[in-house]
Amino acid sequence: MKLFLDTANISEIEKGLQWGVISGVTTNPSLVAKEKASSFHEHVKKIAEIVKGPVSAEVISTKTDDMIKEARVLSALDPNIVIKIPMTKEGMSATKKLSEEGVPINVTLVFSPQQALLAALAGATYVSPFIGRLDDIGEDGVGLVYDISKLFLVHDFNTQIIAASIRHPRHVFEVAAAGAHIITLPFKVLEQMFNHPLTNIGIKKFLEDWEVYIKDHGN
Ligand code: G3P
Repeated sequence: MKLFLDTANISEIEKGLQWGVISGVTTNPSLVAKEKASSFHEHVKKIAEIVKGPVSAEVISTKTDDMIKEARVLSALDPNIVIKIPMTKEGMSATKKLSEEGVPINVTLVFSPQQALLAALAGATYVSPFIGRLDDIGEDGVGLVYDISKLFLVHDFNTQIIAASIRHPRHVFEVAAAGAHIITLPFKVLEQMFNHPLTNIGIKKFLEDWEVYIKDHGN
């Protein structure tokens, strides 16, 4: 099981890597736009150089041929680039073609087990169910991960599940238990995962007790 960061922010990526728990990054057009980088391609290349693990970069075309052209340009930026393609008919045609050429594809905007099945059949390396966005409309995001995991296990698919659209640390535990191979996190959720009041209280108490001991006995 692996954790990725769902961000295009360089400083967040550097911190996540420094903490030793992040092994990949996913981006999407909204996340990249937020960074206001002067060149999308240069920015993605920079991320891939820093991460040295899978970095998903999304195509913005909607037609198969245009997606394939875009994917080839993105792929050439770094060997670790994974192409993110939306779950559409055009997208699955592009997924099939690119997968056959050995380009790793992450099928995104997946909201049902049926869509995940289509992505796997088209040859996707990864499939990204959006947990939080399903919860937002009163559906069961974690349940979706469980269903996809079961389908892939029963039918022996190699496609890996990247649980995306994660809103809080509880989601992380739940999707991991439901069978996600990878969880891609907003930086805020990664930071929240470190925190527990009893850890802080525990550290404070250990240091206080140590101070008393040192005062009484010296080094
Ligand atoms: O990157 C895809 C997904 O994680 C987006 O999440 O928070 O926009 O629903 P969110």
